[in-house]
Parts: sequence; C-alpha cells; structure tokens
Amino acid sequence: MTVIAPPLLTVRDPTVRYGTAQALLDVSFEAPRNSALAVLGPNGAGKSTPARALSGLVPTAAGSFALDGRDLTGRPPDSIRRAGPVHLPEGRGVFPTLTVLENLRMATACDRRGRQAAGTLSGGEQQMLSLARALMVDPRLVVADELPLGVAPKMVDVVFESLRRARSAGVAVIVIEQFASRALDFADHCLVLRRGRIAWAGDAALAGPELLRRHLGEATAA
Ligand SMILES: Nc1ncnc2c1ncn2[C@@H]1O[C@H](COP(=O)(O)OP(=O)(O)OP(=O)(O)O)[C@@H](O)[C@H]1O
Ligand SMILES: [Mg+2]
Repeated sequence: MTVIAPPLLTVRDPTVRYGTAQALLDVSFEAPRNSALAVLGPNGAGKSTPARALSGLVPTAAGSFALDGRDLTGRPPDSIRRAGPVHLPEGRGVFPTLTVLENLRMATACDRRGRQAAGTLSGGEQQMLSLARALMVDPRLVVADELPLGVAPKMVDVVFESLRRARSAGVAVIVIEQFASRALDFADHCLVLRRGRIAWAGDAALAGPELLRRHLGEATAA
C-alpha cells in the first residue's frame, strides 16, 4: 500500500486587507516536503502577502494555514516561528547592527568576515547571510521572498545549491520571484499570481515561455 504523506504546508484562502483593499482572492495552495514551489507574478500581484500572513506579519480576517498538521492561523509571529517555518522577507532580512558572527551565532566563524558589521554587507550579501542563518536553524519550511538573483551569478549558484540541499533533506521550499527562469529551473511546482488571484498552477516543467509571457509580460518572463 502506498501511503501518501500530507503536504507540509497547507494554505487555504487567506483574506488579507491592506486598508480597505483585499489583497488575495481564492488563493489556496500546498507545499509538500522534499519539494520546491515557485510563486511568480508581476509587481503587486500578491506574491509576498501569503508569506507575510503565514508568518503572522499581517493579520488574516479569514482562511487558514497549517504546517505539519498544526493550525498556525492567527498565532503571534513568535509562536509561528517556533513551529518551524522560516521566512526570508523581501529586502535584507538580517539584523544590521549585529555582527555577522552574532547573526550566524557561530562560534567557529573567526575570520575577517565574521567580525564585519552585517550592515556593511551589500544587499545581496545580506540576503545570502540571512539564508545561511535560516538554514542553520534546521527549518521545515523556507520561504524566500525575492532572492538577489540579479547579483553575481556565482552567488546565485550558492543560494540555489543550499536550497537544493535543504530540499533533499526534507525541507519544503517556497521561492517568491518576479523573474521566472532561475526559480523555475529549481522548482518542482509553480504558482502564478495575478491581481491577487491564481492565474496558473502546475508543474514547474510545464510553465513554458508562452505561458510566462502571457502572465508575467516580456520583461519578467526572462
Ligand atoms: N502595506 C500595504 N499597504 C497597502 N497596500 C499594500 C501594502 N502591501 C501590499 N499592498 C498591496 O497589496 C497588493 C499585493 O501586494 P504584495 O506585496 O503581496 O505583492 P507582490 O506581488 O509581492 O509585489 P512585489 O512584486 O512588489 O513584491 C498590491 O496591490 C500592493 O500594492
Ligand atoms: Mg513582494
């Protein structure tokens, strides 16, 4: 008998309001273990909002989030963090006044970089640092909102290699991206959002150039 494991993360139609505007409409999806989901969409499509709601950074008026069978809906951010998701928000995601050493809480990191103030790193380096830190706490779910894919290609390789390793170790990975191709190369599944709704969902391998052009436009399908 084949036992199908339930998805690690289940997101059911969260209602998030920014003022009077409702950011998401009927957005439900799942993230299985050992797999990566790319969340794509043009500017303002609602890509970051489910991650913010899952982490408790914005309140939800309705809908639900479950991680590993535990309902996280409406819990405060600290309690959610203890349950295992790691969210790398858009932007820097490190504590700029702490040293790299403090950020990584790593007793062995005694090299030059280890003593550099994290705020003096470039934006891309800070993203790398926040990813390294996130993976160190042995998360079950990593949500990376807009990794610095525009920076040095070598660094991008390192980023995806660490995510790949995490995925092989059983982590569910969600990569939120405006630029599709690199995320799709990596991901198993794909969710395309547009104006707060799901425009397309399916296998990452099936999200071809024509589909991406239609949903993301010429510039962001690259
Ligand atoms: N704090 C806020 N106040 C008001 N409106 C907001 C706020 N944050 C987001 N919105 C609006 O909600 C919608 C969804 O925002 P969201 O940040 O999830 O989109 P996104 O796809 O992540 O955008 P981006 O590509 O810019 O990262 C957008 O129309 C956005 O303008
Ligand atoms: Mg965003």
